[in-house]
Amino acid sequence: MRGIILAGGVGSRLSPATTVVSKQLLPVFDKPMVFYPLSALLDAGVKEIMIITTPRDTALFKTLLGDGSRYGASIVYAMQETPKGIPEALTIAKAFTKNDRVALMLGDNVFYGDELPVAMALASRGKGAHVLACKVKTPEHFGVVEFDDDERPVAILEKPIDSKSPWAIPGVYVLPPKAWNEVKSLRKSKRGELEITDLLRRYARKRALTVHRLTRRTKWMDTGTPRALRDATNFICVMQSRKAVPIGAPEYSAVRGGLVQRATMLKRLRATKGAYAEMIVNALEYL
Ligand code: DAU
Repeated sequence: MRGIILAGGVGSRLSPATTVVSKQLLPVFDKPMVFYPLSALLDAGVKEIMIITTPRDTALFKTLLGDGSRYGASIVYAMQETPKGIPEALTIAKAFTKNDRVALMLGDNVFYGDELPVAMALASRGKGAHVLACKVKTPEHFGVVEFDDDERPVAILEKPIDSKSPWAIPGVYVLPPKAWNEVKSLRKSKRGELEITDLLRRYARKRALTVHRLTRRTKWMDTGTPRALRDATNFICVMQSRKAVPIGAPEYSAVRGGLVQRATMLKRLRATKGAYAEMIVNALEYL
């Protein structure tokens, strides 16, 4: 399976913090936001990754992550000129994804918990499209899935005003090969974008959509507003110090996943200053 991290958009709700830099490069506690989806992909065993950003921010992402070799992975970059919708990522990445399954992750989705890599790894070996569902108090802010009495997904709605279902769909979509083909016939929604929920609905109609419901063990965090970003930062800070395990750290995921040797990473991190490198060194010493 190949991975795509969609990290474009204008981040208007976080302006002026996003006036000169991408939202997905803002810190969530001690690391840039994009580290979280990157580390989630590595945890799920995905090593071929494309990052899609704005023309303004591509150079910054390249400086931060390089060609991925430091994580034992391959990272390539592509640009989205303007935010035309999440499914456009599949069109942009067409030549990169070839005939493989794809894990498309939104660059601003932050997760905590070990259910996500397991669900993604399962989805990578499955058929059709796979998404997650997470119970939320404000489904009207998200894509939502409704289930019938047999627990089958029957309706997929984008930000419904009166949702009957509390099950929101986070920004992790595992899609079958050539999903870009389906994108060709999608039409713009009222807000002028191609909607990922319109694409998912197609798979649901064909009974080719699997929904994995996350339990309360997983925390899925919104980072869309200053307050939500502050809450995510606080949560990561507390959990990381309590458990002494790095959360959303690609260096740590790379070693745990056997992509980089522990000794190699330790050497590199010991030569790096700062609390982040120190935390990973400590965690790796006990791995
Ligand atoms: O976070 C999960 C939700 O993300 C889903 O439940 C919704 O179904 C899905 O539509 C999306 O909703 P948002 O309103 O949060 O989407 P937003 O426009 O904020 O974009 C999400 C991220 O993707 C954001 O970091 C910017 C990036 N993006 C978005 C679009 C539309 C791009 O890079 N390019 C784009 O064209």
